[in-house]
Amino acid sequence: MTFIRSVVLGCGRYLPKKILTNHDLADIVDTSNEWIVQRTGIHRRHIAADNEVTSDLGTKAAECALANAGIQADTIDLIILATSTPDLTFPASAVHIQHNLGIRKGAAFDMQAVCSGFIYALSTADMYIQTGKAKRVLVIGAETFSRILDWEDRTTCVLFGDGAGAVILEGQESNGKMDDRGILTSHLRSDGIHREKLYVDGGPSKTGTTGHLRMEGQEVFKHAVGMITDVVDDAFAATGLKASDLDWFIPHQANERIINASAKKLGIPLEKVVKTVSKHGNTSAASIPLAICEAAEDGRLKQNDTVMLEAMGGGFTWGSVLLNW
Ligand code: ACO
Repeated sequence: MTFIRSVVLGCGRYLPKKILTNHDLADIVDTSNEWIVQRTGIHRRHIAADNEVTSDLGTKAAECALANAGIQADTIDLIILATSTPDLTFPASAVHIQHNLGIRKGAAFDMQAVCSGFIYALSTADMYIQTGKAKRVLVIGAETFSRILDWEDRTTCVLFGDGAGAVILEGQESNGKMDDRGILTSHLRSDGIHREKLYVDGGPSKTGTTGHLRMEGQEVFKHAVGMITDVVDDAFAATGLKASDLDWFIPHQANERIINASAKKLGIPLEKVVKTVSKHGNTSAASIPLAICEAAEDGRLKQNDTVMLEAMGGGFTWGSVLLNW
């Protein structure tokens, strides 16, 4: 019996030119490099230029992924953009990216699950591919969180940055075994009881404004590790694989302490954990594809490596994707 698996053809990333260091931030709010590094592991973040919008970042990451995969844009039949910072309320920023890439067929839509957005988008793309509704899907995570930060709130503005990453998935025949390439399983969760612990205090329907990010940091921290490890365990249970079968653990890059604590609880050695949070802070839905691309570019991530992706974020939403690269 043959199955269809969603196999990664290529990936790409883009970070805006402007860099904001912890020392720069100490000139804006009452903070210090030491505090930020000790509590989060973050050293710097990238900030989009005034004339750069989320779809510009996403387009650059997508162009890079297309070049990396060696395919033409017009062979893509679905674009899913994970973002919580769209250019406009509508149309979807995915449609702007589709236009920028010169694609006039198929479909494009945005997906909003905050920091878990890329996991939600990958899982959705995988469903389209497995059911034969799409053959090649461009999955992008792109964010300009700098636009929704309260730059006077030191408890949040030091944590986030802008960026974009993308992967291209293609449906390929598989024998269904756990060592074949492609996405093996995905698991999504959400629980709105936590919706006020991490949210934006504005929106088109409620206030008619964009609003600013608000967060109960300690509450997020308290739930993060348990939620992350639960969905990773769900992926292990669904496949029969275990922590020692992983070549790489590529978590959402929010905070180095959350990443280290999750890896420890799961029994994954830190040498197998891809960490990029120090270089660009929390880029929400862009963080996982940014980390994937860095590991692919520097040669760590090799074909057929078994990789666990996971994220947790506002809502709360959380999820995991297990794949063979
Ligand atoms: N610089 C200096 N001091 C600060 C700063 C800052 N940037 N921010 C807060 N403080 C102060 C506080 O005011 C407080 O001072 P006080 O004791 O005089 O009241 C003190 O530092 C300690 O504050 P806490 O909130 O207890 O600090 P904590 O150790 O919890 O660290 C942090 C805060 C980093 C936000 C932590 O709670 C955290 O990482 N939470 C997870 C949040 C996160 O990662 N969110 C990302 C989105 S969700 C996701 O992606 C998973």
